[in-house]
Amino acid sequence: MANMSSLLSLLIVILLSSIMINNLPVANAKQWCVAMQTAKDEQLEDNITFACSNGIDCRPILPSGACFKPNTTISHASYLMNSYYESHGRTNQACLFFFPNSGMLTSTDPSYNQCIYK
Ligand SMILES: *[C@@H]1O[C@H](CO)[C@@H](O)[C@H](O)[C@H]1NC(C)=O
Ligand SMILES: *[C@@H]1O[C@H](CO)[C@@H](O)[C@H](O)[C@H]1NC(C)=O
Repeated sequence: MANMSSLLSLLIVILLSSIMINNLPVANAKQWCVAMQTAKDEQLEDNITFACSNGIDCRPILPSGACFKPNTTISHASYLMNSYYESHGRTNQACLFFFPNSGMLTSTDPSYNQCIYK
């Protein structure tokens, strides 16, 4: 009988833990908005122009900026897409609606060296 009740307690603990784990907010995982590898440079250039003319600080992608290297369109677009996403409440829409087919969300921090993706 002692074995039965400890088995029962164990089952209850497992059940309660799994309920608690399922209720953890998944949204806690931070995400970043970056350019898709498949996006065309011309599209990304439009996205860069859009970001720079809509309040995003584009100095980091200038030759003197921390995010200039690598000097590629995709790298510059990624940084700016994430800045746009960050300054617009980090909503999915700020990434996927404004950068359809060129922006995507990632849970891997794209920051490198002094180039910090907020
Ligand atoms: C970004 O590029 C995508 C792909 O070309 C395009 O559909 C979208 O309209 C562009 N967004 C902006 C804001 O320029
Ligand atoms: C950066 O890349 C652009 C486009 O390929 C090129 O025109 C420019 O000369 C490059 N700048 C530097 C400093 O490497």
